[in-house]
Amino acid sequence: MTEQTSVQQAGPLTKHPITEHFTEWAHNVDGKRFLEQLARHAYRVCNYDAVADNYDAFYKHFGQRGTIHFAVKASAEPDILKTLIARDSGFEIATYSELRLLIECGLPKSKIGTKVNFGQTQKERSDIRKALRDGLRNFATDNIHDIRIITEVAGQLQIDKKEIRLQIRLFNAEGSSSGEGYSQSFNKRYGVDNEQAMQLAESIRATGMTVAGFTFHPGSGSEEAGMWDYGIRNAAILTRRMKEELGITVTELNLSGGFAPSEPIEYYSAHILPLIDKIYREAGAELPKSIDTEPGRWLVANAEALIGKVSNIKINRDGTRIVTMTTGVSENGTLTDLGLDFDFFILENGRARKLEKRKEIRGNLHGRACADFDVIAENTPVPAELHPDNPIADDVFVVIHGAGAYSHYMERNFWCGITPPMKMNYEDFKKGITSEVNYQRALVNSYAERSGLPLKNAMTFITQTTDRKLGEIKGSEIAKILENPELLNKLGLHMLSSVAEFVEQHSNKG
Ligand SMILES: Cc1ncc(COP(=O)(O)O)c(C=O)c1O
Repeated sequence: MTEQTSVQQAGPLTKHPITEHFTEWAHNVDGKRFLEQLARHAYRVCNYDAVADNYDAFYKHFGQRGTIHFAVKASAEPDILKTLIARDSGFEIATYSELRLLIECGLPKSKIGTKVNFGQTQKERSDIRKALRDGLRNFATDNIHDIRIITEVAGQLQIDKKEIRLQIRLFNAEGSSSGEGYSQSFNKRYGVDNEQAMQLAESIRATGMTVAGFTFHPGSGSEEAGMWDYGIRNAAILTRRMKEELGITVTELNLSGGFAPSEPIEYYSAHILPLIDKIYREAGAELPKSIDTEPGRWLVANAEALIGKVSNIKINRDGTRIVTMTTGVSENGTLTDLGLDFDFFILENGRARKLEKRKEIRGNLHGRACADFDVIAENTPVPAELHPDNPIADDVFVVIHGAGAYSHYMERNFWCGITPPMKMNYEDFKKGITSEVNYQRALVNSYAERSGLPLKNAMTFITQTTDRKLGEIKGSEIAKILENPELLNKLGLHMLSSVAEFVEQHSNKG
């Protein structure tokens, strides 16, 4: 953040409870066991209460001006979705399955029409059909094909076209790549320039659907509030032009996501909201009636931390320490490192000690897959203890803060048999991550979740496999069961038949 503001409060990802309250939990850890567990799988330590606090803070600053649509792609955790539904939040989806999840988590169908945006502008026809059937009416678009498909499907479903509201997605900067300082080159794929926007508006009008407003995404984790300026300016110009040249009244501005959780939300609202008033006035445009947002990362990043153990350290010729960890598989280089923060601990004689990160020592942090793309951070400061000559270098474990957002990119399921990270809530973690009962619970919960099976089925599977009650089976035994590829296959089949059953039961007749 370079701009001077009177904002004092810190962003949600500036507090790291696991590290700050280290002394509270460290003495409950059986060091040897912890390392054994971490060798087998990483841990996801969850604090979903944080999401309610984050939403309330966000609401305080943007909630009066429009709907806050949580971007479900950032986290589809049922606990998170339920918390936000209870707060009457809106949602942004990129696929129909996200809407399905919301409905399963209790979003009433009567709210879908006003509370859900279909933010993916390049949609699948069958997704449009199912979403329209469920009552969704707000779509972002940036291309004529999408507009044609929505029109065709709405016609088949005999939906009044006026009810269908489209926001035109604009470029977030000049040129086809997003430019210096942007975290994602969204413009390569998404958005249109002003002339194209005018043409799309005419096409939408010709279909009978409503041109509701504009949207643009400045790039995930945009630490500068100025990243919104370009899109706001064009939205204002287009609002005036559409009125004057096409007679279309546009009423919405959707600022989308991109808010970095390292920054307080006031930092963005203090810059953006007055700027909208100023720019729209200067452009001679009517002020937007509703200023919507679609935060993903800001609302959920601090709801999870990922903990993995160091497996190997290699030093490259330029001095970069290549650190391989047991975190799973980080799959997507462009999301890598966004908003994450790292703390390193070492276990010595069964006790954990925090290590000092050294600015002059740089490392790249990787997961277990044998591929360059499996990278969690590049060029990040690491402690001197991460050295191949250190006899306990592989007793180091890494706490990755900010893993609540887009973490499914950081820990792929069952990659070549790697057990996915174990989920545990922060309270249980503090009480004793290595206690047998907590370990069992984390294993079963995580497994149930990853396999898509209801928890009950996973437990039944495990108890049937051993012929014993759950409480009588050791956590390490359960881990072995879950690592057995034959059983994994069986569970995989079980999962497929559950999906088939679900589809059969829920498929729309006719
Ligand atoms: C259309 C749309 N809205 C919202 C978001 C959420 O962005 P963020 O997590 O950066 O807030 C995304 C993320 O890619 C997006 O594509």
